Amino acid sequence: MRKPLIAGNWKMYKTSDQAVKLASGIKGSLKSFETADVVLCPAFTVLNAVYNVISDSSLQLGAQDLFWEKEGAFTGEVSPIMLKDCGCEYVIIGHSERRKYFHETDETINKKIKAALDVGLKPIVCVGETLEEREAGKTIEVIKHQLTGCFAGFNIEDMLNVTIAYEPVWAIGTGKNATALQAEEAHRFIRTFIVEKFSQGVANTIRILYGGSVKPANIKELLNEKDVDGALVGGASLEVSSFVDIVKNSI
Ligand code: 13P
Repeated sequence: MRKPLIAGNWKMYKTSDQAVKLASGIKGSLKSFETADVVLCPAFTVLNAVYNVISDSSLQLGAQDLFWEKEGAFTGEVSPIMLKDCGCEYVIIGHSERRKYFHETDETINKKIKAALDVGLKPIVCVGETLEEREAGKTIEVIKHQLTGCFAGFNIEDMLNVTIAYEPVWAIGTGKNATALQAEEAHRFIRTFIVEKFSQGVANTIRILYGGSVKPANIKELLNEKDVDGALVGGASLEVSSFVDIVKNSI
């Protein structure tokens, strides 16, 4: 049985005061909650502040991106070691917003995953199709291509520390989530891909999250599906009550 993982992707929201308030509220409402792993992924600028709030709780910290070099003249970038130094255990890699606005490719995402694993960070790797691709019947083809590129050169050991997030681009921030069946179809394909490329053992262990308009009202139905192991939550992770309700409804 895979333990559900609920991660909040705060995107480019929350100043330090707001972030501390949000993290404190979540921590207060989820005291001694252990039936799901809960990860908060704030902006780089507030990682330390959020860590200070949650370090004595079961909540875990994640970042939203990293650069693959350890250090160097890379103005504006943040290294895997720096994220570890802030208390991060997870890092989101290859979010569709990074692919779209910052031209990330499966090749750069592959380097980032490697760099994260090298320092013991657990990557949450995002894949998912656009509306155009879905309407053209290319959903599975697109996901397969992304998975192949993102995980090229990895071994079984590496994959045991990876989480995958299926985030159909058309469901992100639109209020229109994938149906449980649509999510399950993609998740089942991802798990089969892992069996074929790696092993049944990895496929049994790896958590595949769904992301895209997850709300307290739809989390249960999504998680009822066999291959949906949790959620990567955007908008609804920005308020204590909606995020806490999602976590509580995940069991
Ligand atoms: P929403 O939950 O706002 O649709 O965002 C999903 C997402 O992009 C999480 O990474």
